[in-house]
Amino acid sequence: MRLILLGAPGAGKGTQANFIKEKYNIPQISTGDMLRAAVKAGTPLGLEAKKVMDAGGLVSDDIIIGLVKDRLKQADCANGYLFDGFPRTIPQADAMKEAGVGIDYVLEIDVPDEAIIERMSGRRVHQPSGRTYHVKFNPPKVAGKDDMTGEELIQRDDDKEETVKKRLAVYHDQTEVLVDYYNKWAVSGQPGAPKYRKIAGVGPVDT
Ligand code: AP5
Ligand code: ZN
Repeated sequence: MRLILLGAPGAGKGTQANFIKEKYNIPQISTGDMLRAAVKAGTPLGLEAKKVMDAGGLVSDDIIIGLVKDRLKQADCANGYLFDGFPRTIPQADAMKEAGVGIDYVLEIDVPDEAIIERMSGRRVHQPSGRTYHVKFNPPKVAGKDDMTGEELIQRDDDKEETVKKRLAVYHDQTEVLVDYYNKWAVSGQPGAPKYRKIAGVGPVDT
């Protein structure tokens, strides 16, 4: 199974990815998680990316496309993959098409902007695994601790209200065009075209 999870910041891509990757036994390829790992490791890429991420902007297409192509060479992608937060621009989507990276489903998680700010302010993350909680909507069993490891949960640097607003604006400006892009491809009847599904992301996490 080869999937793309498309949706605004805070729509629940990471949250749903957790269930989907277990069900289909496929790796979650989250460009955001990959960049945060580089920031934590203090690599040159991480130092560069941190500035952009903290400002709510997008890291350059060349860097992201290179990261993902490298990741796809790893053996665990043989059975499929789940893209989370990628592609995020038309050039990123085109690069995957040109490289022949197959996609079976594009799942759009739809959440209105008004709900996003509250989700982000309550989000807590287990950095090593990327597991995501919410203090109110999806609380960990023990406050501030990861359910699986008991390790500390943190707040993301880019979850400040001001940065979230910027990220939402960037989503509407540069990523939302992919809704049209994949919808058109899906109805084109071309061989290899993905199926497109729009899912309301406002219900409870399990639903
Ligand atoms: P990235 O990490 O991809 O962030 P994002 O797309 O902004 O999405 P989020 O991770 O914030 O949200 P999510 O949809 O995963 O929601 P979650 O499940 O956590 O990217 C970060 C940055 O990296 C970008 O800004 C950019 O700078 C850079 N970057 C990354 N990829 C890039 C690319 N391809 N190109 C260029 N730059 C790139 O849920 C959010 C909260 O809501 C959680 O607390 C959760 O518990 C809660 N929640 C989830 N579902 C529900 C529900 N149904 N009801 C109530 N609460 C819910
Ligand atoms: Zn995420």
